[in-house]
Amino acid sequence: MSVFDTPLGPIGAPTAVLDRAAFTRNLTALRDVAAPVRLRIATKSIRVRALIEEALRHDGVSGLLAYSVAEARWLVSHGLRDVLVAYPSTDVVAMRAIADDEDARATVTLMVDSPEHVAMIARVATQAGVVLRVAIDVDMTFKVGPFTAGAHRSDVRTPEGAVSLAQCIERTRGVELVGCMFYEAQIAGVPDSTPGHRLMKWASMREIEGRRRAVVDALRAYSDLEIINGGGTGSAHISGRDGVLGDIAVGSGLFAPRLFDGYRALRTEPACWFVSPVVRKPDPQTAVTYSGGYIGSGPPSRSRVPVPVHPRGLKYYGQLGAGEVQSPLHGASARGLSIGDHVWFRHSKAGEMCERFDSILVVENGALVDEVATYRGEGQNFG
Ligand SMILES: Cc1ncc(COP(=O)(O)O)c(C=O)c1O
Repeated sequence: MSVFDTPLGPIGAPTAVLDRAAFTRNLTALRDVAAPVRLRIATKSIRVRALIEEALRHDGVSGLLAYSVAEARWLVSHGLRDVLVAYPSTDVVAMRAIADDEDARATVTLMVDSPEHVAMIARVATQAGVVLRVAIDVDMTFKVGPFTAGAHRSDVRTPEGAVSLAQCIERTRGVELVGCMFYEAQIAGVPDSTPGHRLMKWASMREIEGRRRAVVDALRAYSDLEIINGGGTGSAHISGRDGVLGDIAVGSGLFAPRLFDGYRALRTEPACWFVSPVVRKPDPQTAVTYSGGYIGSGPPSRSRVPVPVHPRGLKYYGQLGAGEVQSPLHGASARGLSIGDHVWFRHSKAGEMCERFDSILVVENGALVDEVATYRGEGQNFG
């Protein structure tokens, strides 16, 4: 039976749906290609605590890659541990809350890539009379002459740059270096759509392996590097092959949203959708669904727009697209749709979709088996 045949009951507004079996298959597929390196769950790409906890119950999965300091503290308050905040932050209020909480400061690691970050965290820590854990974000952008591909995130790129920041951390009271992170966005986040992309990814991985090992070797003089993180869904199969990483972050691959369709090595399948009711039939060849203009972040383009996938053959009207309140659709199957029928859409991204919903319906083997709250449903918004 297809997931699209699962009876969902009456739906008045777009509703998120997760196929638990597909979610589990995606997780185990990623875990198996990353092995023996374990997976760390990238929470920004899930934003549903119950599903994060479910992923953590699997062998080969431990630790979280959070996206906000306030989020990290909230996750710890729910009993989660080993939370690496993947992005530097200026949220000194949340840092202070972590400094004041014994559990949180023992298990949350804050990210730095500059002496300013170190000084800000150290100020909070020394005022509270504690030590906070930090990790260095090492930029993995691929650069050859004028060509660059990557996330342009950190100024630390070389063993010398990493050592300079490690020495700054060593000199500073209130901070302790416990790890480093290497995110190769140009591999993990770029599909294999053209020969050029594939060549860039291959060349970039070769460059990364040498540079990453040299950075880790250099940093060992300053820390035993409890955390050495890298990778993402799109690179889980290769990021760990040289044995340098301690864990590989994955999140998006568990939902497998549309932007992850074009990766040759990925053995994931769509696991998450939103379902919207047809609310109008202005003419026989048009079916209007409610809301649904949930555009994904990144360069504005068609690739960021949700796609109607069931029934097949539905298209947006070019001048209207996915709407704020109404999404008129036409195409082969629009004629067969009546008011109240359901249209299933795939979002371009994973966790971002959850910001639109308070909960996700969990289906399994053709039945609705659970409903889990998103961060938003738990009243949490971390930006
Ligand atoms: C630091 C970092 N690590 C890993 C990832 C990979 O996450 P995902 O598996 O959701 O693509 C990201 C995504 O942006 C990231 O920023």
